[in-house]
Amino acid sequence: MKVDVLLGLQWGDEGKGKVVDVLTPRYDVVARFQGGPNAGHTLEFEGKKYVLRSIPSGIFQHGQINVIGNGVVLDPVLFREEAEALEKSGIDLKKVLKISKKVHLILPTHRLLDAANERAKGGAKIGTTGKGIGPTYTDKVSRNGLRLGDLFHNFESKYEAAKSRHLAMLKSMGEEPEFSELEKKWLDAMEYIKEYDIIDSEHLINHLLSEGKSVLCEGAQGTLLDVDFGSYPFVTSSNTICAGACSGLGVAPNKIGEVFGIFKAYCTRVGSGPFPTELFDETGRTIRDLGHEYGAVTGRERRCGWIDLVALKYAIMINGVTQLIMMKSDVLDGFDEIKACVAYDIEGERVTEFPFSIEEDKIVPEYVTLPGWKTDMTAMKSEDEFPEAFKNYIDFLEKELATPITIVSIGPDREQTILRNSKLTK
Ligand code: GDP
Ligand code: IMO
Ligand code: MG
Repeated sequence: MKVDVLLGLQWGDEGKGKVVDVLTPRYDVVARFQGGPNAGHTLEFEGKKYVLRSIPSGIFQHGQINVIGNGVVLDPVLFREEAEALEKSGIDLKKVLKISKKVHLILPTHRLLDAANERAKGGAKIGTTGKGIGPTYTDKVSRNGLRLGDLFHNFESKYEAAKSRHLAMLKSMGEEPEFSELEKKWLDAMEYIKEYDIIDSEHLINHLLSEGKSVLCEGAQGTLLDVDFGSYPFVTSSNTICAGACSGLGVAPNKIGEVFGIFKAYCTRVGSGPFPTELFDETGRTIRDLGHEYGAVTGRERRCGWIDLVALKYAIMINGVTQLIMMKSDVLDGFDEIKACVAYDIEGERVTEFPFSIEEDKIVPEYVTLPGWKTDMTAMKSEDEFPEAFKNYIDFLEKELATPITIVSIGPDREQTILRNSKLTK
């Protein structure tokens, strides 16, 4: 059996959680492979809304195994909050969730370092989610990290060593924070985590695959936030791309099957960093209001703009996307016209390949303007009902991106999802 991967093609918040939930009944296993509680994945069904941060979005369907893979960084305190809320809503989480021994732990001092690093950067700050993601991955790569499996291997001394190192770093930055309460909560949460199945998840996943079970990998963040290929340094600290599923779960590249690339019918970004098609006008504000574009984790306003096909083509190439999923089409239902960026003008040169640097002050986006569909699509049940102008928008995107759009989302609810079955290969 192959592993399918679903990941974001823009700057995150494309709607990954919603679609993973919709696709879960087709799979035996759902697995997260990177990121941590910087993610906020929203699901809506039966009139209720849930936001998941570290736990896979397969958790609300029945019978699947959900895995938090080795590539993830886990904050025990936030994990506990999320898990207890799910348990309260009736989910037998301890039965269906497996956590890799190799996940790296976010310590209280990682969060303090994240904040201190941002303060030190001043105007050049990244606008992180403040969850300690960067410092935790830094420790992983510099071989100083603490892993969940260390719980059973001299945990206390490893924790104390990491903490002392962090406190020395903070001191050198002029910070001597008091965090005893946070630390106590963290240590309590480590006891709570022991109640879960902490396993060698790479073995489990490969065994399940050889037994013929199917796996869906759920990406967090998006390709333009990837540490190698995103808008560096305004990125997150993990590989959000398809290759991240291999290293973040222990799955070989030849096991990858379908790659679902998910994008909004427009584009958003939260935090600092360049965004060539950003709109600073009434249109941008309208998209933000209609799309409720506020961060699921931090509540920050998301910056809004038109779809950027130069960036999307790049993301499709880097990830080997086989099927596209278009989200939030309904947000554009009332627009007279829709724009799509097809090239960048960089200091007089027309550029169609995503360049090394996308500094906005040097880029003028070249747009194609398409007629809007001016139809409320939110109650539609099949693509046959789509208005002609919307079908034309889909055709235009499929041609430009040379990849089929197999799922179209027309509202936040699970039910507001149109599968284009003639195109869907899975
Ligand atoms: P994720 O991080 O990729 O899972 O996405 P988020 O949950 O952070 O952000 C997506 C937001 O859009 C959430 O509030 C969803 O409930 C909402 N959403 C998802 N799909 C649609 C859609 O098709 N239409 C509308 N209007 N909202 C959607
Ligand atoms: P989901 O999975 C949108 C952004 C932050 C910041 C940068 C680095 O919900 O799509 P970090 O805390 O990771 O060091 O922040 O990345 N960012 C996200 N933006 N959606 C996310 O996750 C994000 N996770 C991180 O805003 O610009
Ligand atoms: Mg999100």
